[in-house]
Amino acid sequence: MSRSVFKVVGLGSLAALLLAMGWWWWRDLTDTQAPDQVAVFLAGHWNKPLAAQGMPPAGFTPLEASLDPEACGQCHPAQLHDWRTSLHSRTMGYGILWQVRALAPEQVKGCLDCHAPLAEQKALLGRELGWENAPAAAPPSYVSSGLHQQGLVCAACHVRAHRRYGPPPIATKPPGDVPELPHGGYQETVAFEDSRFCVTCHQFPDDGPALNGKPLENTFNEWRGSRHAVEGRSCQSCHMPGRRHLWRGIHDPDMVRRALSATLSVQPTEDGSLQVRAAIRNSGAGHYFPTYLVPRVQARLVVESAEADWHLLAATVFARDTDIWLTEERADTRLAPDATYVLEAQLAPPKEPGWRLVLYIDVAPRAHYERMYAAVLRDSGEQLDAVTRDMLRAALTEARSSRYSLSVMERELPQAIAN
Ligand code: HEC
Ligand code: HEC
Ligand code: HEC
Ligand code: HEC
Ligand code: HEC
Repeated sequence: MSRSVFKVVGLGSLAALLLAMGWWWWRDLTDTQAPDQVAVFLAGHWNKPLAAQGMPPAGFTPLEASLDPEACGQCHPAQLHDWRTSLHSRTMGYGILWQVRALAPEQVKGCLDCHAPLAEQKALLGRELGWENAPAAAPPSYVSSGLHQQGLVCAACHVRAHRRYGPPPIATKPPGDVPELPHGGYQETVAFEDSRFCVTCHQFPDDGPALNGKPLENTFNEWRGSRHAVEGRSCQSCHMPGRRHLWRGIHDPDMVRRALSATLSVQPTEDGSLQVRAAIRNSGAGHYFPTYLVPRVQARLVVESAEADWHLLAATVFARDTDIWLTEERADTRLAPDATYVLEAQLAPPKEPGWRLVLYIDVAPRAHYERMYAAVLRDSGEQLDAVTRDMLRAALTEARSSRYSLSVMERELPQAIAN
């Protein structure tokens, strides 16, 4: 089994890639400037790997001590409700689970730094997978048994050494550090309202994995160079409106609608045909549309009849296109913030009424993973154990079923003048 196809074609390169992506610690992106309080706080808060919480303070009830999102939700039901609908509650889905079973523990720990960052979550997964140095004893009572399956839990962002951290209260809330409050009150910090809060997972450092001089994850840098940063629009203002724990993105049709503004125009030409033009602008995403190399977005300009007969007039792709193993960037056709792309075509005016021009946006939010999972299944699937292979298949099905299509704009076409 020393030179199995899987090792050569599949896991070898997979492991190298994931190792490259997974292993670095948080680094202060603003280190050319004097470190401010937010930077200092965040360097400590996201000092990965996160330390274990340790023993809860003596006065804590089991409910206050628990790291389980359900426990937080007893007193913070709105955040629990929203978080459950977000992808942050699903960062330990099939897509990562099959890989976690196929990779070495040290690599997996690197993945978990973003996908399930609490030390207690790593310990639980280690026990489940039989890692050598996983704790032998059963977890303490404040660690619920399924915590590692729940992904980016509340405590990963809000709790260190059993102390709560959160944004300054809005006027109607009780003030912060009040010992009589549950869990001994909380430490307030403006770092929670700052875009840099998200950097630890959504921006690779400048010397991290990159292609064509651009980090593989570059969202914060893209944002920092955009009008939105200048105008004071943080990541939170768009992704957590009213502090809601929604984090909608490319998987959500309404969010994608909000990213784009479009105009459609139809001009008669001298030779009697119609010149049609669709201009698509990234007016609402605070970074490139899309920001990652994972999604693939296609814009299609079509003419459609009332009977659903249709013809394609023009199309383009917005994506950062790489090979499966991320060794090469083949094209970067994403829309920069405020950039516009124009689709144009000429056509003969329709002879019957009811024809219209429609601009469609087709989104494959996990296109990169669709290709990667399919390749591993094809080339090395037979060498995975049955459970891992089933998970990989489920991940592929899930990735494919996240695709959707939306019509962003339409317009009636003028009919040919009968003579
Ligand atoms: C027994 C009830 C209770 C439990 C359980 C509880 N909290 Fe709280 N928490 C409160 C109260 C009350 C406040 C102060 C009022 C407020 O801001 O809602 C608070 C405040 C907070 C704040 C500060 C809010 C702000 O405005 O900045 C955060 C963050 C927080 N809790 C997180 C958590 C997390 C995470 C958990 C679970 C690990 C948790 N809490 C469990 C009752 C609870
Ligand atoms: C620096 C933080 C970070 C690290 C480390 C990291 N990821 Fe991710 N991962 C992300 C982010 C952010 C996304 C979301 C990207 C998107 O939605 O376009 C993501 C998305 C994914 C997805 C797609 C979502 C899904 O559930 O199908 C998979 C699979 C994945 N990561 C696997 C891994 C594996 C395996 C490792 C370790 C080798 C790893 N990641 C390491 C941040 C990280
Ligand atoms: C990815 C990190 C992250 C996770 C996970 C997360 N939060 Fe938050 N939370 C934040 C940030 C950031 C803010 C501040 C948002 C802002 O100021 O715009 C916040 C704000 C809050 C507040 C203050 C809300 C207010 O209206 O003042 C509470 C309470 C809270 N979170 C509780 C929770 C609970 C409970 C969970 C789990 C169900 C949770 N959070 C999960 C990052 C997170
Ligand atoms: C501890 C790591 C971590 C932190 C901190 C974090 N995220 Fe995420 N985020 C992730 C991972 C991992 C995913 C991928 C979820 C998946 O697809 O399975 C994700 C997904 C998302 C998505 C959904 C992307 C999509 O494809 O639709 C958005 C939006 C998002 N995060 C925004 C934020 C914002 C804004 C902040 C800061 C307030 C933040 N995140 C903080 C790890 C993190
Ligand atoms: C002006 C509003 C706005 C701001 C500011 C903003 N975003 Fe977004 N973001 C969007 C919209 C709209 C989408 C959906 C379209 C898309 O995917 O680009 C999105 C998508 C995403 C996605 C989905 C993945 C992808 O490939 O597009 C992630 C992750 C994300 N944003 C993270 C962030 C982070 C981190 C910040 C701050 C550094 C941020 N966003 C700032 C509006 C914003």
